[in-house]
Amino acid sequence: MRITVIGTGYLGAVHAACMADIGHEVLGVDVDEAKIAALAEGRPPFFEPGLPDLLARTHERGNLRFGTSLQEAAEFGDVHFVCVGTPQRKGSYAADLKYVDAVVEGLARHLDRPSLIVGKSTVPVGTAARLAARIAELAPQAELAWNPEFLREGTAVLDTLEPDRLVVGVQSAHAADVLRSLYGRMVEAGTPFLVTDMATAELVKVAANSFLATKISFINAMAEVCEATGADVVPLAQAIGMDARIGPKFLAAGLGFGGGCLPKDIRAFIARAGELGVDQAVSFLREVDEINLRRRARTVELGLDLIDGSYRGTRIAVLGAAFKPNSDDIRDSPALDVAASIGRRGGDVVVYDPQALDNARRAHPELAYVNSLDEALTGADVTMVLTEWDEFQDMDPVAVGEQVAQRNMVDGRNILDPVAWRKAGWRYRALGRP
Ligand code: UDX
Repeated sequence: MRITVIGTGYLGAVHAACMADIGHEVLGVDVDEAKIAALAEGRPPFFEPGLPDLLARTHERGNLRFGTSLQEAAEFGDVHFVCVGTPQRKGSYAADLKYVDAVVEGLARHLDRPSLIVGKSTVPVGTAARLAARIAELAPQAELAWNPEFLREGTAVLDTLEPDRLVVGVQSAHAADVLRSLYGRMVEAGTPFLVTDMATAELVKVAANSFLATKISFINAMAEVCEATGADVVPLAQAIGMDARIGPKFLAAGLGFGGGCLPKDIRAFIARAGELGVDQAVSFLREVDEINLRRRARTVELGLDLIDGSYRGTRIAVLGAAFKPNSDDIRDSPALDVAASIGRRGGDVVVYDPQALDNARRAHPELAYVNSLDEALTGADVTMVLTEWDEFQDMDPVAVGEQVAQRNMVDGRNILDPVAWRKAGWRYRALGRP
């Protein structure tokens, strides 16, 4: 099929490359010319494992190209995926839909033959119905469907090529048929293909992310209780996770969730539920958000405990800036939030991350950055592991003990072995652990 993918960020660039990989003719479109130029040369403008190889493969085949024109997109494609961002609106919990609106408006104006517009962006429920009405005015031959995306950064290529499920919210059987055939390879491989109305499809995405955020905040709430009682949240999570009804995933207690999705999606859901008059139904999500943010404050306190109550005049090695490992994304990163907070309290903060330094520098120019783990550790009074990169998990407590000024460790992700670190002479603190 001839398809376009509009918006080539973390979601769209991966989607475009994967759709080309399964054999479609694909045009990726973005307003950011630098991003388009990089992608056209096969260089992803962000770190995502597997994406450079995929771009190289499709480059050789010649069925993926990039451009900046919505008119060209309208002329080229029969199916148009909308993959632009829906960030949190400034001064509000609500999602900012200006990019989605602009793309649909801009594209529909140029559509003069039957085509399918497919929303992938995460939007408040009801957005698709509003956009469908606008498309009916501007391009009566075009139809809208909603097909939420569940990919995780760091494993985005695999999540797209081998998804758990495909959900399509449609207005006609024809739209479902087009999408079933477009995703034919996955459907034939046994991926469940769920056809719903558009509102349900929009809600599936928001409900899934709300559940995941709730699961993380649940275990972090248990960590707070553990801290008050001397219990240990790590074996606690292991034990409850062995109940098949609960399951072990997303029960890693620590500094909590960040990124471009979970935090803003639960807030947008709270805002939308308010507009719909069902705010009570999701009022627990406020608590989920608050538990999550309290973990950041607690991490700052744990460091303070180790250095007698003041960060002033101390050197703090912050290991990690990305919101999670295998990503260079620093949007709403708990690690950077903690680093900035310690910096404001007078700490001499030095940040190291294997991939996210450029993005971190742009967002927090006030912090100091170094290009290696060794440089970060040298002379540190407190070392804090705030993103669970393998490089940090693999540190040898004895060797690292020789590099730092004081053996003080805050393990914000519960990835180090407390016994080994204490044995090597470290004062070890973690979230929810004695
Ligand atoms: C999330 C959803 O998982 C994905 O389905 C959706 O499409 C987009 O949002 P992503 O933002 O890439 O994906 O990150 P995810 O792997 O879900 O992690 C989110 C955050 O939760 C990270 O900051 C991670 O460190 C944290 N987390 C995750 C925990 O603190 N504990 C856990 O047990 C799991």
